[in-house]
Amino acid sequence: RKKVTLATLQSLYNKNEPITMITAHDFPSAHVADHAGMDMVLVGDSLAMVALGMEDTSEVLLEEMIMHCRSVARATRSAFIVGDLPMGSYEVSPEQAVESSIRLVKQGRCHAIKLEGGAGMAPTIAAITRAGIPVLAHIGLTPQRQNALGGFRVQGKSVASALAILADALAVQEAGAFGVVLEAIPAPVADFVTKKLKIPTIGIGAGAGCSGQVLVQTDMLGNFPPGRYLPKFVKKYGDVWSEALKAIETYKDEVKQRSYPLGEYTYPMKMEEVEEFER
Ligand code: KIV
Ligand code: NA
Repeated sequence: RKKVTLATLQSLYNKNEPITMITAHDFPSAHVADHAGMDMVLVGDSLAMVALGMEDTSEVLLEEMIMHCRSVARATRSAFIVGDLPMGSYEVSPEQAVESSIRLVKQGRCHAIKLEGGAGMAPTIAAITRAGIPVLAHIGLTPQRQNALGGFRVQGKSVASALAILADALAVQEAGAFGVVLEAIPAPVADFVTKKLKIPTIGIGAGAGCSGQVLVQTDMLGNFPPGRYLPKFVKKYGDVWSEALKAIETYKDEVKQRSYPLGEYTYPMKMEEVEEFER
């Protein structure tokens, strides 16, 4: 498969062919995503929860994001890699955001960065874009701002808030973003925003009318312990956690019964050699 570039994404968008995106946070998760033919891989700061066991995304550091991006980049042959700027690495000033973005690209080996925020982030998006780094914006439900939003809740349900989302989308487009993630907004709002824009919208909990979709890999694979809260929009395409649990329990039982490793799982030795060795 050929390497996906901004030109590839543009051509998918022009053909009205949905753009596929999934998160990855390490070598194996990136490998399988790339192998499956995802157009884009997102090293999302959701890795704070799904890979590092943190309470939310606010704890994860730029250094940690860089390390995860590097491991993803080592496994990725064709997908376009986008890395999340974590909370605290871009809000202070456009200069801070440009420095953090350069580190994610140079040290993390990402092709583009994603940041949360709409109209208020427009000058920052413009500055990063001027530095030659493509920016994917992220509006609607922005998890890094969960405390300001009053928790994880659907955005844009009233006419006023839907209009604010449209204004944010137009602002990030104007600022130079190559696309925009729409998270947790009513499908009709996402449809309308998508029609009004000249850049792709990547939906998560925003309905099938977006130009593309993104999901957190760990969630869609069912690769998490029972009890993890899943938003309503997550479809579980697999049950990887149960598979892993079953395999490890079977291994445990076989070790306890000394039924593993036997036969094909052992290295043989000639009988004469064994006898001589034991003498
Ligand atoms: O961090 C993440 O995984 C994300 C996606 C949910 C869009 O930002
Ligand atoms: Na994120």
